[in-house]
Amino acid sequence: MIVWDDSILTGIANVDRDHKDIVEKINLFLADIGADASVSVIHDSFRRMERCIYRHLELEEKMLLAVGYDQTEPHFATHKKLTDDLEGIWDDMLGNTDFHPGVAATAWLRSWLFDHVRREDLAYRDWIVAADKVDLANERMND
Ligand SMILES: [Fe+2]
Ligand SMILES: [Fe+2]
Repeated sequence: MIVWDDSILTGIANVDRDHKDIVEKINLFLADIGADASVSVIHDSFRRMERCIYRHLELEEKMLLAVGYDQTEPHFATHKKLTDDLEGIWDDMLGNTDFHPGVAATAWLRSWLFDHVRREDLAYRDWIVAADKVDLANERMND
């Protein structure tokens, strides 16, 4: 279980709402694994977590295009890598009996939260604040 840490707040309310939601969904998934839930419960909870992540990344990309962010390409490439890794976890969960999804999901969460959000999301936050586009960003995160 990973505890939310306010140092990664962006100050863009709807982005923070999504980020907290993702942490919560991943922790629910880890809790199901820890509780030895059935395979179908664990699969459902993985899919719920994944939907929440995809929805966020998609909205964030639309928002970054709408505000005219100048680093969309590297940012989107990292999103692509993160979603590929997530699909890899899903495939391993289905096909590899020795696989530990909890360990893999925790590693994924760390690289998303502590590498991507802390470095790259906070970088666009600084850009958006400097460009005075926080309101537009919030609006777009609700589409
Ligand atoms: Fe991002
Ligand atoms: Fe994000």
